[in-house]
Amino acid sequence: MSTSPIQSQLTQLQTEAIAAIADSPSLDELEQLRVKYLGKKGQLSQILRGMGKLSPEERPVVGSLGNKVKQAIQDSLETQKATLQQAAIQAKIAAETLDVTMPGVSRPLGKVHPLNGVVDRVLDIFVGLGYTVATGPQIETDYYNFEALNTPTDHPARDMQDTFYLPGGNLLRTHTSSVQIRYMENNEPPIRVIAPGRVYRRDTVDATHSAVFHQVELLAIDKGLKFSDLKGTIKEFLRQMFGDELPVQFRTSYFPFTEPSAEVDVQWKGKWLEVLGCGMVDPNVLKAVGYDPEIYTGFAAGFGVERFAMVLHQIDDIRRLYNSDLRFLKQF
Ligand code: DAH
Repeated sequence: MSTSPIQSQLTQLQTEAIAAIADSPSLDELEQLRVKYLGKKGQLSQILRGMGKLSPEERPVVGSLGNKVKQAIQDSLETQKATLQQAAIQAKIAAETLDVTMPGVSRPLGKVHPLNGVVDRVLDIFVGLGYTVATGPQIETDYYNFEALNTPTDHPARDMQDTFYLPGGNLLRTHTSSVQIRYMENNEPPIRVIAPGRVYRRDTVDATHSAVFHQVELLAIDKGLKFSDLKGTIKEFLRQMFGDELPVQFRTSYFPFTEPSAEVDVQWKGKWLEVLGCGMVDPNVLKAVGYDPEIYTGFAAGFGVERFAMVLHQIDDIRRLYNSDLRFLKQF
C-alpha cells in the first residue's frame, strides 16, 4: 500500500510542529502553537477532515497515524511547557537571590533626650521606693498654683516665681507643686506620689535660666512622718542618682508650703550645687485639702530636672538642652 498524500501531510505537520514548539520562547506562544496545530480548527483537524475520501483499508492506517502525530505534538508541547516553566522558576530564583555580602541599609537608632533620661531615672528610683506617678495640667488656676499652697494674693513669696498670667485669670504653672493639691483632693492618705512635668516662669533666658523648664514633685503623706523620713528619702534618692560618695548638705530655707523648709546641695567638682527644695508639708496646705494636720503629716520636695541633667552630664549651658543640636544630643 503506497503512502497517501494525507500520510505525508501528517508526517510533515509533525516535523514542522515539533520544530516550532521546541523553538517557542514563552508559554503564551506555546499556547498559540497548541491552538494552531491541535485546536478544533487547527491544522491536524483540517488534514484529518480529508479522511472521508479514503478507502476503507486506508482509513484505519491514516487514523492511527493521525493519533500518533497528535500524541507526538502533545508530548512535545508538554516537554516544552515543562522546560519553559523550569526556566521561569530559575529566572525568578536568580532575580530574588539574597546577596548576604551586600552592605545593609543602616537605620539610625533614636535616643532618649537627656532631660527625659533624667526624668526616667528619677521616676525609676521613686517607683522602686514605692511611689506612684501622677500628673497635672500646665495651665493652672491661681488656687492650685498659689492659694492652696499657702501663698495667698499679696504674699511676698509670689515674687519668688515670676508668673505668666493668661487672659481670663488662669496662669502657666510655675511649679509642679500644684499637682500636690490636685492629688490630695482626689486621694486619701497614705500618699506616696511623684509628679514630673513642665513649668513656666518669666525668666530671662541665659546659661542657667529658661522660661520653660522641668520639675519633678515629690509628696508623701501619712501618720507620723518626720523630717528624718524626708532626709532619709532624699539622701537615698541622691545616692541612687549620683552614686555613693557624693557629699550632700541640707540648708535651711523658706517655702510657703513647707515648714520647716530646706534646700539640698550636692558637692560637684568642688562646689556646692543646689539641686532641690523640700520640707514638711505646712499644716495650712493639709487643711486646704481637708486633711486633719493633727492626724497626718507629710513631706514634699521639688527637683529641677535641668539642674540634675547639667550636673550628671556636665552641661555648661541650659540652652543646649533645648536647641535640638544633633551634635550635642548624639553624645547621650
Ligand atoms: N515648688 C518649689 C519651686 O519651684 C520647689 C519646692 C520646694 C517644692 C519645696 C516642694 C517643696 O514640694 O517642698 O521652687
